[in-house]
Amino acid sequence: MDVLVIGSGAREHALVRALLDDPGVDRVVAAPGNAGIAGVAPCEPVAVEDPGAVTALAARLGADLVVVGPEAPLVAGVADAVRAAGTACFGPSAAAARLEGSKAFAKEVMAAAGVPTAMAHLCTSEAEVADALDAFGAPHVVKDDGLAAGKGVVVTGDREEALAHARRCLEHGPVVVEEFLDGPEVSVFCLTDGEAVLALAPAQDFKRAGDGDTGPNTGGMGAYSPLPWAPADLAQQVVERIAQPVVTEMAKRGTPFGGVLYCGLALTSRGVRVIEFNVRFGDPETQVVLARLATPLGGLLHAAATGALDVQPDLRWREEAAVTVVLAAPGYPEDPQLGGTLHGLDAAGRVDGAAVLHAGTRLAPDGTGIVASGGRVLSVLGTGHDLGEARAAAYEAVGLIDLAGSRFRRDIALEAATA
Ligand code: AMP
Ligand code: GLY
Repeated sequence: MDVLVIGSGAREHALVRALLDDPGVDRVVAAPGNAGIAGVAPCEPVAVEDPGAVTALAARLGADLVVVGPEAPLVAGVADAVRAAGTACFGPSAAAARLEGSKAFAKEVMAAAGVPTAMAHLCTSEAEVADALDAFGAPHVVKDDGLAAGKGVVVTGDREEALAHARRCLEHGPVVVEEFLDGPEVSVFCLTDGEAVLALAPAQDFKRAGDGDTGPNTGGMGAYSPLPWAPADLAQQVVERIAQPVVTEMAKRGTPFGGVLYCGLALTSRGVRVIEFNVRFGDPETQVVLARLATPLGGLLHAAATGALDVQPDLRWREEAAVTVVLAAPGYPEDPQLGGTLHGLDAAGRVDGAAVLHAGTRLAPDGTGIVASGGRVLSVLGTGHDLGEARAAAYEAVGLIDLAGSRFRRDIALEAATA
């Protein structure tokens, strides 16, 4: 099987590595990829949000499967176009990708499917926002209705700050005000072929920029798996109460959802609640989940893309823990400074149990080195027998990397490893 992976982050680097590990996969090509992916697989330039361009590339390469990493191409209809051209594609149609593309749509589907989530009001004016803020009380949760790369949400005790964010969102569309969900957050990826659902191991993401969950929300500063403190049957609960009902509801509407339904959850005292859905793998959680998955990934994604997930044997997992630490460019997330040169990548990659996955990197224009080209630059992965060992490997490796002004969180998986 020849696979084309669309995207350029550390998630795609992890997908490419796992696909290359699958004996059933002959060749993996990434588009556009990044400087790290280029070290293990050919990379092709492509406009990822252009359905025609992706379809033409898949045809030229003779790909048997296209795996779409990020949400924007899915919302733009890339999976529809690839499938229409006769190639298997892992990723939902544009119609089904609305589960991520519109928070209001996701709420409507959840309501119809009886899935537990935060109560919410969709507001189109400042007066409605003010009423909703008062109805729910503090802490306030205000969300941009559309795609915002994890940065469209403000959670605050300050009513003025909540209103100010709502005003900014209202300039281009509706805004969602919702009930605050109290409890630890978990990400569960549910693979689905539109009917059958298979959950991967739960992971936890660290969304805030600073240690101790301080600072602004980001795309994710680190992740770990397994979660020693979570209920043992969490993945099963998520399938039964959340993913399967949503997949069934989407099929009933004539817009079946195939690909991965990323369930962002809060484990509240009243049970599991959905914070958000994404229609793709999460970054950086994918890096730690795939590090633990022993079942060959290519076969699994192909089965999900072709309606064959129900005949998949049970998933196998390595008896290992995984931790990833994101190295971010100076100024991330508000104003990332790009172009700095990375040093120490080779030494970091040689640390026992560590791997350096690239996110925002590219070759320097003069070809002499690797420079930062995105806010999240690297996702440094550590694996080990337990979370303590996995952390030690990840932190030893990230400590060897030098990028002027860069930062990373020091407390990824710390509490779970020492509990
Ligand atoms: P989202 O983009 O919807 O995932 O929101 C980003 C982050 O904001 C989440 O990971 C949570 O940390 C936080 N958040 C979103 N909605 C809520 C909520 N209803 N209650 C508490 N925190 C929330
Ligand atoms: N880890 C957060 C996301 O992928 O949206």
